Amino acid sequence: MATNIVWHDTSINKKNYRTKNGHHSGVIWFTGLSGSGKSTIANLVNKKLFDVQVNTYILDGDNVRHGLNAGLGFSADDRTENIRRVGEVAKLFADSGAIVLTAFISPYQSDRDRVREILTKDEFLEVHVDCPLAACERRDPKGLYKKARNGEIKEFTGIDSPYEAPNSPELVIKSDQFNEEECADQIISVLKEMQWI
Ligand code: ADX
Repeated sequence: MATNIVWHDTSINKKNYRTKNGHHSGVIWFTGLSGSGKSTIANLVNKKLFDVQVNTYILDGDNVRHGLNAGLGFSADDRTENIRRVGEVAKLFADSGAIVLTAFISPYQSDRDRVREILTKDEFLEVHVDCPLAACERRDPKGLYKKARNGEIKEFTGIDSPYEAPNSPELVIKSDQFNEEECADQIISVLKEMQWI
């Protein structure tokens, strides 16, 4: 733990970035089972925002685990550290005036709550991509459920590792009942209602 560290204020702050961009900034936090559609929907929302000149970025579990979080596995402690780091990075993006979309299983309520706590009330939007396990398993886009059922992958979320559905998410997306386009539009509508864009 480092000591003797003093916060350095910058001349240009979040408010300045938001004014320059002409939109709000914050974190759209997608949570849900593997294969529920988090990345697909985040990608579509990102594209729709990009097309109307909103400054955005996507942090995606599978990608971040190739770099920043390459050393982390899927134990409870590693998942907690994964989400802690991603939360801190997301906060930096929000500070830079961007709308950042994060797509991580983030199975633990306490980890998601910790991210909520480091942000202000108006810059965290928890989106539960709610898709029944059976439907995710039927899709099995990466063939991982099959491997988990065969015992080739341990601690797989929904199989032998828990998923805690959000207590009070800002938004629930039923990704097995609506198509990707409809799911993305539901999120865009909420962003407009909340005057993020
Ligand atoms: S989290 O639980 O720490 O939030 P994260 O979203 O970063 O998980 O990574 C999940 C992705 O890693 C899944 O979409 C899947 O492709 C892959 N994966 C590999 N092993 C596992 C596992 N044991 N449990 C869940 N996902 C896994």
